[in-house]
Amino acid sequence: MAQANSDTTQSRRTFAIISHPDAGKTTLTEKLLLTGGAIHLAGEVKARGAARRARSDWMKIEQQRGISVTSSVMTFERDGITFNLLDTPGHEDFSEDTYRTLTAVDSAIMVIDAAKGIEPQTRKLFEVCRLRSVPIITFVNKVDREGRPVFELLDEIADMLALDVSPQAYPVGMGGQFEGILDFETGAVARPEGPSKEFKGKRDENPELPELFAEDIELAQIGYPEFDLEAYRNGDLTPVYFGSALKNFGVTELIEAIAKYAPPPRPQPAGDEQIEPTRDEVTGFIFKVQANMDPNHRDRIAFMRQVSGTFKRGMKLTPSGLGKPISIHSPILFFAQDREVADFAEPGDIIGIPNHGTLRVGDTLSEKNDIRFTGLPNFAPEILRRVQLKDPTKTKQLRKALDDLSEEGVIQVFYPELGAQHIVGVVGQLQLEVLISRLSAEYKVEAGLEASPFATARWLKGDEKALDEFEKYNRANLARDRDGDLVFMAKSPWDVSYQQEKNPDLTFSATKER
Ligand code: G4P
Repeated sequence: MAQANSDTTQSRRTFAIISHPDAGKTTLTEKLLLTGGAIHLAGEVKARGAARRARSDWMKIEQQRGISVTSSVMTFERDGITFNLLDTPGHEDFSEDTYRTLTAVDSAIMVIDAAKGIEPQTRKLFEVCRLRSVPIITFVNKVDREGRPVFELLDEIADMLALDVSPQAYPVGMGGQFEGILDFETGAVARPEGPSKEFKGKRDENPELPELFAEDIELAQIGYPEFDLEAYRNGDLTPVYFGSALKNFGVTELIEAIAKYAPPPRPQPAGDEQIEPTRDEVTGFIFKVQANMDPNHRDRIAFMRQVSGTFKRGMKLTPSGLGKPISIHSPILFFAQDREVADFAEPGDIIGIPNHGTLRVGDTLSEKNDIRFTGLPNFAPEILRRVQLKDPTKTKQLRKALDDLSEEGVIQVFYPELGAQHIVGVVGQLQLEVLISRLSAEYKVEAGLEASPFATARWLKGDEKALDEFEKYNRANLARDRDGDLVFMAKSPWDVSYQQEKNPDLTFSATKER
């Protein structure tokens, strides 16, 4: 049997950028795309976002807040490598979308503001990467401004994230004293030029470095672990680059590092099996579903991360949730400049599949329909609210809408064993606004949200007897999710640990895999 071309699978780099808002993710994305030749003018990432925003009602929220709720895929090619950059929404009120996008990448860049170090959202996203051993390259941004001392930053990354750090560069001064960036591999210093002090390509091959720095630079080179490809790819070590996205420092080095070190498409778990990218059969999984920008149409785009095989336009694939094959005649392939029509996709690529709600997050698509990808988790919600219907005759529509929106991953829905009010769970406040606005705009259901007595939820697992026993005494705190699985609704984290201790035969899981 012919194998997919292993050269092609080796040449893909599918990655995301994780950061706390304002660290410079948008600016860096733009510079990566510019350097990669995918766009020709800075500002296009934002401009395109604004044009997109104008199209739909519920996205008014984005407009009001000036943020992007939805993620997209940006592809560029450089030196024979195809880079697929998956955008993760960077706002503090992030959603499960953000988490799930990280299940579709093979590596990530962690952007840190040199003045701030590790911030809460960087840390949360990092933990999601760690859960899946996603390797991380660190980019310390904004060194053109006054930042914290280099060693303090390096040690903070190492200590807070329990990760080995291996500096690959050193900023020669920061802020007013900024004189460029020393690259450890080449020994050259990238220099600022002109009044804007940007990097325009000037590299000093034999730099004279200020005396003051000699010792520190030596310490940065010998005082930390050497770069080790295996440790990086296992997620145990992060190479650290310094730069300024705004002034273009470190961007080329970052692209080169991704090309050189970041893993090509990795095998993906399907139960006990690992599906290799070189497998002949086309397989993939849906990690995100996005409603059409046009509220008058219920079309959705499902984003599939291709795991193996060579996809050809018009191909028939079977979604695990449906059981019968669908023809994929109008896939959206995110290639290069103008989203030009592409006829093929390879492992590591993302394919957008238009559909009418048949494809769900977590679905596997395959030619033979005999594998199921695992490990695409739901995360325990951190905010739980009761849905209050303003017009009681709309119960049915509400249920349908909540089911739909939970399939899309906008919210999670829980149906309590006692009582009639549905509970919705989210990981970020913003999702609640999206929910109310979409209920009204797309389903004509006016609803409000009220406090629920619960603080978090845990999926319950255990043998039937133990589950029955637990159910008998805890009905008031139990609900079913949309798949009918039993969920313990906890009033506090303490409640979770208390019940865990009392019921050692049950597991209380903060994630659920589909
Ligand atoms: P985000 O997507 O992570 O939220 O960050 P974004 O790129 O929007 O950057 C946040 C702010 O930080 C922006 O300034 C941006 O210009 C600035 N910035 C990004 N990278 C650098 C850098 O390397 N050096 C310096 N000095 N600043 C940087 P803003 O004033 O909030 O927005 P804007 O008006 O410039 O768009």
